[in-house]
Amino acid sequence: MKTYHVDFFVNGEEYELDVPANKTAPVELYVDANKTMLTVLREELDLTGAKEGCGAGECGACAMIVDGVLINGCLMLAPEMDGKHFETVEGFADEKGNLSPIQQSFIDHAALQCGYCTPGFIVSATALLRENPHPTRDEIVHYMSGNLCRCTGYKRIIEAIEDAAERMNGGAK
Ligand code: FES
Ligand code: FES
Repeated sequence: MKTYHVDFFVNGEEYELDVPANKTAPVELYVDANKTMLTVLREELDLTGAKEGCGAGECGACAMIVDGVLINGCLMLAPEMDGKHFETVEGFADEKGNLSPIQQSFIDHAALQCGYCTPGFIVSATALLRENPHPTRDEIVHYMSGNLCRCTGYKRIIEAIEDAAERMNGGAK
């Protein structure tokens, strides 16, 4: 079976995937080329914040930021990870463990029920507020349309994102 050498960063930490013969990496892993990036992060690196929902790019449960761009982890294969920088929900708290304003706002607004979709929503909201720090409600709804919540908690999710934007822009709360 063909194998690939893949160097990448997750939340600032470097990882390599390789065949066992080349053990020069900070972390040595062996992964089949047909595994998705989502599977690599969840099963090999124990970063289980991103979830597998549809597995087909339609629900956003596996959302991550890759080289600054929001993508679905279920649509990228392991060999494509080479050279890329991944941001997952595990990396959003600061060094002291303080949650990001978006994470805190989701808690304050009780914007989750079962919580399965929540990491994906938080990742997508983070990407949104980086691109557009002052989104209108319609812009939030449009941007978040790639994330599905089977518990249908959309009202509180949208409110949490609106509030987070206000906090990040210096609004009182
Ligand atoms: Fe990736 Fe649904 S699991 S978009
Ligand atoms: Fe349950 Fe969204 S909170 S799927």
